[in-house]
Amino acid sequence: MHGRVCEVRRYSRDESGKRAQSVRGAGVMPTRREAMLAGGLAAGVLAATPSLAAPSRAGSLEGFLWGVATAAHQIEGNNVNSDYWVMEHVPGTYFKEPSGDACDSWNRWREDLALVRMAGLNSYRFSVEWARIEPAPGEFSVATLDYYRHVCVVAREMGIEPVVTLHHFTSPRWVAAMGGWEDPQVIDRYARYVARTVSALKGAVRWFCTMNEPNAQVTSKVLQRKPWDIEPRLRADAAKAVGSDRFHMYFLGDSYRVRDNCIAAHAKGREAIKAAIPDAKVGLTLALQELIPGPGGGALYKRIFDAARAPFYAAASRDDFIGVQTYNKFEAGPDGYLPTPADAMKDMFGLPTQPTALAATVREAYTHAKVPVFVTEHGHNTNDDAQRIRHMDAAIRALGQEIDNGVPVLGYMHWSLLDNFEWSSGYTPRFGLVAVDRASFARTPKPSLAAYRRIISGLRQTKNWA
Ligand code: BGC
Repeated sequence: MHGRVCEVRRYSRDESGKRAQSVRGAGVMPTRREAMLAGGLAAGVLAATPSLAAPSRAGSLEGFLWGVATAAHQIEGNNVNSDYWVMEHVPGTYFKEPSGDACDSWNRWREDLALVRMAGLNSYRFSVEWARIEPAPGEFSVATLDYYRHVCVVAREMGIEPVVTLHHFTSPRWVAAMGGWEDPQVIDRYARYVARTVSALKGAVRWFCTMNEPNAQVTSKVLQRKPWDIEPRLRADAAKAVGSDRFHMYFLGDSYRVRDNCIAAHAKGREAIKAAIPDAKVGLTLALQELIPGPGGGALYKRIFDAARAPFYAAASRDDFIGVQTYNKFEAGPDGYLPTPADAMKDMFGLPTQPTALAATVREAYTHAKVPVFVTEHGHNTNDDAQRIRHMDAAIRALGQEIDNGVPVLGYMHWSLLDNFEWSSGYTPRFGLVAVDRASFARTPKPSLAAYRRIISGLRQTKNWA
């Protein structure tokens, strides 16, 4: 998704040319109350804080959070003050197309919440955008903070627990111009932003992800065979565009420095959240593809584990949960991942997407971090919605097995609610349970949205899960 610079599965090379299926009338209808709530709740519903879901115990799904996930830059639209927006517009950029209006969720968030309820879900993971909240250093937008608070309050009123990610890849352009995630100054800047944002959300949000997949760029680095030749020019052009002599994004630059700064920022962010909301549940989310050593791949497997997993498991061991995000299963070879086996289920990128990968990574994360696991992303990039349903069903069943075996799992967030802006691959990939018309932004549920609801209610009956 970040093209050349992120994990292998994200190397943009799909172009199936197929159109998203037309799935109107997929059989998921909102109740009158849901439709009414989505249409407009009174603004001043800030006072009462409904009681919050209790985290589930090992072996049970009491209080389990079933939800979907999105991220601000991928759905809101016109995130013009962000570093990604700058990079999307640099001549010769590696982005296939700019994010533009995305899914216009900045304006259509009520429709999105209504879809969450239509699927019978009790939670929604989404991110708030630093570039909108702090458009210039130390200058916070009260209106933007009010806006996000209002979204969270309305979600709560609809019975949807907000799970808020404070940083999902994008940063303000001024952060990139100052040295970005390579510069240790970012740690305090991030903590200040978190403190301010979280105190604005107090009483409306209890679940926070400090940052999204800070390990992904380290995995890419370990796998990288040679330096990416266009990176220096792109960064120089982006620096010029922001009036600086540097431009550092989360996924560009020295991955090991970025890693260490992210881990330090995560710890400070967690402190800031706990200071404002002592009973908040805080964790970071990791890109964890199932990885096994294949023939001759032991050394590469160990390099990836030591650089891109172990330090993050250690960082997460003081958190309330570890966020697991899984899409693929790879076998390490002597010099990279081994080719996808011919009989494997594949995504639109042709990469292997074994449904059992989720259970395997949940187990790995729990074994090493020793804190409860929260599946903060899991999904399948495909135009074949029937395959998406089979994939989701099998993965959730295997996850259930882990829970029955005693692994504490707090929730499952399917990526994604909407077909959205898949970073450097643009709008071609299809992760959504809901299709979005690129011209009108009309949302059309796919059969997988109703199937998700059925899978959950089936599990509730057969397993007596909450
Ligand atoms: C990221 C999302 C992305 C998804 C699918 C995750 O790694 O957090 O932003 O869209 O993968 O590639």
